[in-house]
Amino acid sequence: MRLRYTLTGLQATEALGNCLSRVLEPGSVILLSGDLGAGKTSLTKATAAGLGIEKKEVTSPSFAIIHEHLHGHLPLIHADLYRLGLHADITETGLEDYLDGKNVIIIEWAEYLKEPLLETSIKIELDFIDEQNREAHLSGKTEIWGERFLKLDDCMKTFLNSYIFS
Ligand SMILES: Nc1ncnc2c1ncn2[C@@H]1O[C@H](COP(=O)(O)OP(=O)(O)OP(=O)(O)O)[C@@H](O)[C@H]1O
Ligand SMILES: [Mg+2]
Repeated sequence: MRLRYTLTGLQATEALGNCLSRVLEPGSVILLSGDLGAGKTSLTKATAAGLGIEKKEVTSPSFAIIHEHLHGHLPLIHADLYRLGLHADITETGLEDYLDGKNVIIIEWAEYLKEPLLETSIKIELDFIDEQNREAHLSGKTEIWGERFLKLDDCMKTFLNSYIFS
């Protein structure tokens, strides 16, 4: 199943993160890809906030590739593979240890992974349209994500309506 949103301003990206956080479960994996500055970290911060993690705790991992945020409703693992470059090997990242079905995992620059991670993950691609606007393409297996994507979409509609008419 696929969803597509035009995100007009950071607030809309934050709404997507918030709506996403409501449908995540232990073991959910989100593969983020998209241009430099497209909003991957911003989306991760908003998702983290929805999970009860302080936004400022979530930064662009620069030296460490992986950050653990263990004090929210669900444990969140935030990885950024940018420094690894193309053909990153999952075993080298240390991410494997977290794939035990207990954590929510968000991976920036997931397209750098040599092997596509899990069939059960959600893919989110963020495209840079212009300074304020981004386009988000979400995809996930319907058997796994269908119902939760519908819930996410309802949440986004509520936001987009209130945003347009405010
Ligand atoms: N609609 C929007 N969605 C997301 N970010 C936006 C939007 N409009 C403007 N911005 C700005 O764009 C920047 C996005 O930066 P962010 O670090 O989230 O991107 P990134 O994809 O993680 O970049 P990198 O590839 O360096 O990791 C922020 O400064 C944010 O304020
Ligand atoms: Mg980033």
